[in-house]
Amino acid sequence: MRAGLAPTVHNTQPARWVRDGDVLSLFCDTNVGLAVGDPSGRDAALSCGAVLEAMVLALSAHHIAAHVTLTEGDTSHGAGLVAVAHLTLSQGDVDGLHNQLENRFTWRACFADQPVQLFGWTRDDTRLVFDEPARAWLAERNDFASHEIMQAAAFRRELVSWMRLNPQHPRAGLDGMDRASMHMTKTEAFAVPFVLIKFWKILSLLRQTKKLTSESNLTLKSPIIALFHRNEVENPVITGRAYMRLCLEAASLGLAGWPMAALSDCAQTHQETCDRFGIPAGQRLIQAIRFGVPSGPAPTRARRPLHETLL
Ligand SMILES: Cc1cc2nc3c(=O)[nH]c(=O)nc-3n(C[C@H](O)[C@H](O)[C@H](O)COP(=O)(O)O)c2cc1C
Repeated sequence: MRAGLAPTVHNTQPARWVRDGDVLSLFCDTNVGLAVGDPSGRDAALSCGAVLEAMVLALSAHHIAAHVTLTEGDTSHGAGLVAVAHLTLSQGDVDGLHNQLENRFTWRACFADQPVQLFGWTRDDTRLVFDEPARAWLAERNDFASHEIMQAAAFRRELVSWMRLNPQHPRAGLDGMDRASMHMTKTEAFAVPFVLIKFWKILSLLRQTKKLTSESNLTLKSPIIALFHRNEVENPVITGRAYMRLCLEAASLGLAGWPMAALSDCAQTHQETCDRFGIPAGQRLIQAIRFGVPSGPAPTRARRPLHETLL
C-alpha cells in the first residue's frame, strides 16, 4: 500500500504487482498510458521506477531486502501488462528514507515565504537553482514550453480526461488530479473544459491562452528550482528510482515539490536549460522541480485501492 504513495504522471498509477512466493513482480499497465503526452511510455516507466523504489523502501521498514532484476519487457501477464522488474525478497536492513513516504506530495500552489534550510543537501544528479534571475528565466521558459505543448488539442483533451474536477466523477479519489490537488477554486474548475477544450481556439485568437496557462507568479514563489538530470541512455525505471529518492530527501527537509515537465519535454527549452545551467552533454534533463515549504496542509491523496494494483 505504501508503495502506491509514489508520484506518477497525471496520477495514472500504472504499477501492478504480482506475488509468487518470495518473488514480487512489477508490471506496467499500458492501458493507462498517455498516448499523446507520453507516446514512448517513458514517463510511465519513470513512474513505475518511483513506485518500485517506494516498494523497496516500504519493504525495508519490515527488515525485508529486495534484490531487483529489471526485465526485458516481456508481456507475460495479460493484455497490456509489460513486465518491469522482479524483486527477490530476503532478510535486510531498514532504509530510514521510508519514513518520508507519507510526507512527500505535490504542491501546486504558493510556497511559504520563509527561508529554506538545506543542511548541506546536494545530489550529483541535481542542480539546485536559487538565484532570482535564474528562477525568473526558468519560470518564463516553463510558461513558454507549457503553452507550446498545450497547442495540441489532443494533449489538452488527454490532460482534462485525467482531471477529476467533479467529486461525482466515477474515478474521483482513486486516480487522476482533483480540484484540491490542483488548488483550483470551484469557478476555476468549472472553467477548465471551456478554456482547454471548447473555447481554446477563440481564446487563442484573442491571445488569452498564454495568460491563462501561465504559472510564472507561483513559480517565482518557490525558493529553489531543482534541475534533475541523468545519463541520457539510462533505463527510465532506474531514473524513476532516483527521482523518488530525490523527492523523499526533499520531503525530509520539509519541502514539497511541483514538477515543470513541460520544460524538459519541449526540445527547445530542454536544450536552452542544459546550455544555460551547464548540464553536460550525455545528460538528459529529466525534470525541473519547484521546491519550497508548502503554505498549507497536503491535499488528500487519490489512490487506487489494493485490488486494482495487486493482481
Ligand atoms: C514523470 C512525472 C511528471 C510529472 N509532471 C508534472 C507536471 O508537469 N506538473 C504537475 O503539476 N505535476 C506533475 N507530476 C506530478 C503528478 O501529477 C503527481 O505525482 C500525481 O498527481 C500524484 O500526486 P502526489 O505527487 O501529490 O502524490 C509529474 C509526476 C511524474 C512522475
